[in-house]
This record gives sequence, structure tokens and C-alpha cells, in this order.
Amino acid sequence: MSLDSVITIKDFSVDYLGEKPVHAVVDVNLTLGRGEIVGLAGESGCGKSTLAYAITRLLRPPGLITAGSATFHSREGYDIDLSAISGQELRDFRWDKIAMVFQGAMNSLNPVISIGAQLADVFSTHRPLMTRRQRKERCGELLERVGVDRNRLASFPHELSGGMRQRVMIAMAMALDPQVLIMDEPTTALDVVVQREILDEITRLRSEFGFAVIFITHDLPLLLEISDRIAVMKAGRIVEVNRAYDLYTSPQDPYTRRLLSSFPSLTGERGDFIRTGVMDERLEATGPSPSIGLRSTTPDPTAAGNESPLRDASQQEAK
Ligand SMILES: Nc1ncnc2c1ncn2[C@@H]1O[C@H](COP(=O)(O)OP(=O)(O)OP(=O)(O)O)[C@@H](O)[C@H]1O
Ligand SMILES: [Mg+2]
Repeated sequence: MSLDSVITIKDFSVDYLGEKPVHAVVDVNLTLGRGEIVGLAGESGCGKSTLAYAITRLLRPPGLITAGSATFHSREGYDIDLSAISGQELRDFRWDKIAMVFQGAMNSLNPVISIGAQLADVFSTHRPLMTRRQRKERCGELLERVGVDRNRLASFPHELSGGMRQRVMIAMAMALDPQVLIMDEPTTALDVVVQREILDEITRLRSEFGFAVIFITHDLPLLLEISDRIAVMKAGRIVEVNRAYDLYTSPQDPYTRRLLSSFPSLTGERGDFIRTGVMDERLEATGPSPSIGLRSTTPDPTAAGNESPLRDASQQEAK
């Protein structure tokens, strides 16, 4: 596969077996570029989590991968067929190469063990040669990386706010310097201010450490801000994959258009859409999509008003 992909998902299908099998993921093809943030959007029940669980092999029966493959292309130059590994190899691989943060992950911290000890546990398991002192130092660094003071290492989960605990989970996911982070609704349970801070943190850390992210949420406006590309899923299938900017300005699939038009913040007054300017910076960095002539762009009328803030922002840059 292409050198700069980190995951290739090919013709991938997952069923939940039962009297009436559910085809939860159907014939999905998707690549994740090295260091890329791919957003996975779609209504509740369309199969987003199933896809995430299946490629990380966390899927439990009656879920079953019925077709296709998911391949991890390590930065060290070898490939791992995710459907073929098991046991210790699989446990080593998870956290080390691909780490996950799931919705409500903050509630999976052990209430009677300090944050520091739980973080350190990742290192004692996966990096047995590290000394106690090195572990402690590294855990402190990790906490600071996600904006939590290192003196919190001694705290117990109940002494931290929900936002802080979710940050701890993100720190834990980054502990072993994974090449891919899979985040399934990682901030949904948090209030918007904390959510915003964490998202900014994730995009900053991605730039600094270069991991790729599959970011799952039904919050399309949020995905438009943080993603390089967005895949839209409907009833188990991916109906459209495109650069965030292109998906916003010229959605191809009718379902994408419907999804875009269902968010008032995307169709409202100028300025509603860009909440932090992340998208501006991104456009500045990558330039407008070559496939879209900025001045000739005709945004889908159902998706955005004529006063598209995105388009205006990039037009100003183009001057
Ligand atoms: N254990 C299970 N047994 C049977 N069917 C299941 C099971 N888990 C999920 N499903 C079905 O598989 C489909 C996909 O579910 P999934 O949880 O992947 O959706 P999702 O896109 O993550 O939704 P949400 O946005 O609500 O998290 C749904 O129709 C769901 O009912
Ligand atoms: Mg889900």
C-alpha cells in the first residue's frame, strides 16, 4: 500500500449474528494517512463504533468480521494484518501502535488506584525495562502534555473533574507514542468549553507528535473543524469520503447534504461555523483544495447559506 498510509481498510464487513443478523458494517473501504485526522460521521446506529471496535479487534460476540481486511502499516516499514493477530501479539500491539479513547472512558479508571499508578501500569506492562523513576517522570510529562498538573499523579479519580479524567485517558492513550489514536465520542459527555479545550489539545498534540486519528462523532460541525478528511457513514456503508473543506462546500451524496443541513450552526449566520479558526489555519497551511475554484464554488444551498464563512475566509486568504 501507499507509503504514507498507516491503516488500510478494505472491503470490510461486520455482522452481529443472531436470529436476524445485523449487517452493521458493509463493504467499507477507507485509508488513514500517516498523521491524518479522519472524521467518521453518521447517525446513531450506522456502525461507527462497530467499525472502530472491529479494526482494533475489541469486537465481542455476536459481532463478527465477515469480510475484508484491515492492515496496519507501521512506520518501521512492516505491515500487520489486524485480522490475523491474536493473544499476546494483539495485546502488545494495542496501546503500543494503536490506542483508543472511548466515550465515557473516564469512568473506566479504577476508583481505588491513584492516577499516577494507573498511568505507570501502562509502562510496567509494555516497557518493562523502565525504572520506577523513569516511569514517574514520564507519567508527569504525560499529564502535563494534556494540561493537567503533574502533582495530580497522587490524586484518585474521584478527586478530578470529568474533563480532567478524560484528559488522563487521552494521556494514557498517548503513553506509548502510538501511530494511531481511535477516538469514539471522546468528548461527548463533557460540557462544550471543556470539549473545546480538549479538541484544541488533540489537534495540537497531533501536530507535535504526528499520530493519525480516527475521530468518531455525530457532531458534524465539530468534525469539519478538526478533520483533514471526513467519511460519512450510513446504514453500515461509507457513502462519501472527502476533504473536510470539500465535503462542506460541495457534498456529493444526498445523505451528506441532509446531514449538513440538519445542523443549524452550519446554515446560520456568518461566523457561527468557525468557532476557533482551526479551519482557517488548516486552509492556510494546505491551501484551498485544487478541485475547487474558490470563486466559482457554489456551495450546496441546502448545506450552507450563500454567506459561507468558510468560503469567505479562504477568499480573503486568496487575495
Ligand atoms: N451487540 C450487538 N448485538 C446486536 N446488534 C448490535 C450490537 N451492537 C450494535 N448492534 C447494532 O449494530 C448497528 C451499529 O451499531 P454501532 O454501535 O456501531 O452504531 P454507532 O454508529 O456507533 O451509533 P452511536 O452513534 O449511537 O454510537 C446498530 O444497528 C446496532 O443496533
Ligand atoms: Mg457508537
